[in-house]
Amino acid sequence: MTISSWIVAKFGGTSVNTLASWQTISEVIKNHENKSRKQLIVCSAIRGVSDALAQLIIDAKNGDFSNSYKTIVDLHNQLAFELGFLADSKIIEIELLTLQRLATGISLLRFSSPALAAEVMGLGELMATKLGAAWLIKNKIKVQWIDARDYLTCEGAHENAYCDPAYDEKLSANLSNLSSDIFITQGFIARNKNGENVILGRGGSDTSAAYFGVILGAQAVQIWTDVPGMFTANPHEIPSALLLPELDYEEAQELASAGANILHPRCIEPLKRQNIPLEIKWMERPLNPGTTIKNSSLDQNQQLKAVICKKSVFMVSIDTTRMWQKVGFLAEIFNCFKEQGLSVDLVTTSQNNVTVTLDNQLNPLNIKTLDELLTKLSFFCKASYTGPCASISLIGKGARPVIHELNPLKQLLQEKSVYMISQSASDINYSFVVDEDDAVRVSRILHAEFFSNVNPKRNLGPSWNALLSNKAREENSTIPWWQNSANILIAKAKNQSPVYVYNKATIVNNLTELKKITAISKIFYAIKANSHQQILTTVANHDFGFECVSIEEILWVKKLFPDIKADKILFTPSFANIEEYRTAFNLKCFVTVDNLWLLQKYPEVFTEQKFLIRIDPQTPQGHHKHVKTAGTESKFGISTDDLAELFIQAKKINASVIGFHAHVGSGVLTAETWKNTALLLAQLAEQYPSVSILNLGGGLGIVEKPEQYNLDLLALNQGLEEIKIAYPQYDFWLEPGRYVVATAGVLLAQVTQIKNKKYKHFIGINAGMNSFLRPALYGSFHPIVNLTKLQHKHCFTADVVGPICESGDVMGYNRSFPETDPGDVVLIANTGAYGRVMSSHYNLKMPAEEIWLA
Ligand code: LLP
Repeated sequence: MTISSWIVAKFGGTSVNTLASWQTISEVIKNHENKSRKQLIVCSAIRGVSDALAQLIIDAKNGDFSNSYKTIVDLHNQLAFELGFLADSKIIEIELLTLQRLATGISLLRFSSPALAAEVMGLGELMATKLGAAWLIKNKIKVQWIDARDYLTCEGAHENAYCDPAYDEKLSANLSNLSSDIFITQGFIARNKNGENVILGRGGSDTSAAYFGVILGAQAVQIWTDVPGMFTANPHEIPSALLLPELDYEEAQELASAGANILHPRCIEPLKRQNIPLEIKWMERPLNPGTTIKNSSLDQNQQLKAVICKKSVFMVSIDTTRMWQKVGFLAEIFNCFKEQGLSVDLVTTSQNNVTVTLDNQLNPLNIKTLDELLTKLSFFCKASYTGPCASISLIGKGARPVIHELNPLKQLLQEKSVYMISQSASDINYSFVVDEDDAVRVSRILHAEFFSNVNPKRNLGPSWNALLSNKAREENSTIPWWQNSANILIAKAKNQSPVYVYNKATIVNNLTELKKITAISKIFYAIKANSHQQILTTVANHDFGFECVSIEEILWVKKLFPDIKADKILFTPSFANIEEYRTAFNLKCFVTVDNLWLLQKYPEVFTEQKFLIRIDPQTPQGHHKHVKTAGTESKFGISTDDLAELFIQAKKINASVIGFHAHVGSGVLTAETWKNTALLLAQLAEQYPSVSILNLGGGLGIVEKPEQYNLDLLALNQGLEEIKIAYPQYDFWLEPGRYVVATAGVLLAQVTQIKNKKYKHFIGINAGMNSFLRPALYGSFHPIVNLTKLQHKHCFTADVVGPICESGDVMGYNRSFPETDPGDVVLIANTGAYGRVMSSHYNLKMPAEEIWLA
């Protein structure tokens, strides 16, 4: 095949229906033009037009098509008006006349043939491209409109035509000889060998683009759409789904077939055969890379790529005992499906049974079709169907070894609700069928397990949440407070170092953001994150409560605010001495009980008391294994298996469980985590009428590394509001620590020494792991800058190390620095949470003091 510089770019119905869409199309064209590429722009009909045309055929057969005709005219007039064309511009006059003529014919005959229907349906694409071409030309883009039917010949049914395209040198040359390098044409339509109009069926424009890509020997085919690419899950159900920058053809095919509705699975095969990359591009951000589908060569690409959930799946179970070892049996039963026009999705077989699934999206399933199928099958075997169910597919080349290590999966497979498991021999798709009601919950758990803490080396993009949230993007690029206070901070550090400095305005800002989570009725600040007096005062002034893990923390809060109301203190201890519980009850605080054994061992302490129960939600999350606080191996929470027993015990001692609590871990950036927790707790609470509070824990993360994206509080709230609609009877609480203070604190230190050892450089500072433990304990990343030389050019990389006698006393590895001298002030950012509170006197060194910057 001759390499040409053709690009085929396809724009779907939602990408051609507004002025903004056409502005983006012109931007895309100009970008390609700058790279000297010949372009074929393939367009669908304006959104809503194909449906209206289908309706027009039905209406015409019934004698009156005026309403549907008007809808079609209105949709085009609206776009024409937006594009600045006058009502009498006549751009699509011929097509509208043709439409009227065809519809009148159908209405007179009260009959339409597939050929006629194809002719009507194709007018949508013709009109959209005519309008678009006129606008592009008006905007000085030298585009030439061509009729796709003159270039694409297909076979098969009029309404579902196809072809086996091949590179057509002559056609490519013909187009190249025309006076333009940019062509615009229609998707979905073609002609057959008899010269009749045909259409390419559902998703036909994608297929057209693929066919044209092959025929022209294009460098790439692009599908421009309203989503940023393909994701590790359906982002509408799992907004933390991550963009997949690269996929193999087979993986993309599996993903498209398993329910990721971005492209039609049929368009992949022709491109795969010719090795033409297929790029999915986002109209909103034309320069974003999107998803590229091509031959994967690297083994490291062989990983689980997505968890896809498909609903409305029916399972047909076929009993085979009577036909054991009968040659041709399977052929006979599959023929029944064929006769019924049903395409089978998953298949499992055993000695006694064959089970298959039928996908409602690909098959027009209804009870009648299924009953007819069963009647046919009953000649050969005993068959029954179950549904609607859902299939969950784990997709990715070479993912099999990972899958079997999964705890949630093992657990799930023990549950009765898994009806069928199917694993493709090609090791690319592992699917199982569950109750439809369980499907999204199960996919969320699995997705979180696979993708919540992915190795940064994996080639995965940002989350859907992050991509869609302009707010998050903007926040990511905001300048941190300390950059504007560099001189003040340098002066402070010169006077006293190492030293933590806290900025009040940032804390106030963080508290204000948290208050926007309207689904939450009470927020308790987790003071373990930072118990500095001024911080607690600021928090109290904003009407937040305090979450305390020890009696010492409670007493500290009481000391600072002697008149604090008891309902502002929440005690959530872990393996505390029983006396601490006694004291907390005496102080009338809310108390959280984290062990059934306590009630059995010390019934007198809990008799007639009201308290919350900490439940193990079994879904650990967090930035590091030390801070994941769920799962059977974790010391936290009570197993849901023990709940019934706990309530019996509580009843015995006349105690009342007023709330459930769960905290999955710390440093979590996926917004739906709290929604999942809320759903789990609400479902459990339904069985226990005394429960009215659901405390969803803390754990709200902040961006630590440059490639991360902010936790989307709006999405978090939206998720919780959804649960609230289903469970309005519960009060939701939250107990964040880090989110309030992390970004408000910096640690300032001074440079003590510089060391160069062969190729390696070290910058010594006077703050060590005794002042700030997080990097040594969790390998956590904190930005580090030379504040004295903030604007200087960077010229070397060094490990930033402290004075403590441990090799792990490193604040940051391989950090880029300007020329640095002893005495320079170094700033370590995002150290407001779990900084000073975790410090020690190791090596008899005084940890950094604290300064409040009001
Ligand atoms: N609620 C409970 C029950 C908790 O155990 C914690 C934190 C929180 C709330 C507050 O979590 P936050 O919103 O701050 O993530 N030293 C570790 C963090 C340990 C968190 C312990 N529990 C770090 O530096 O990352």
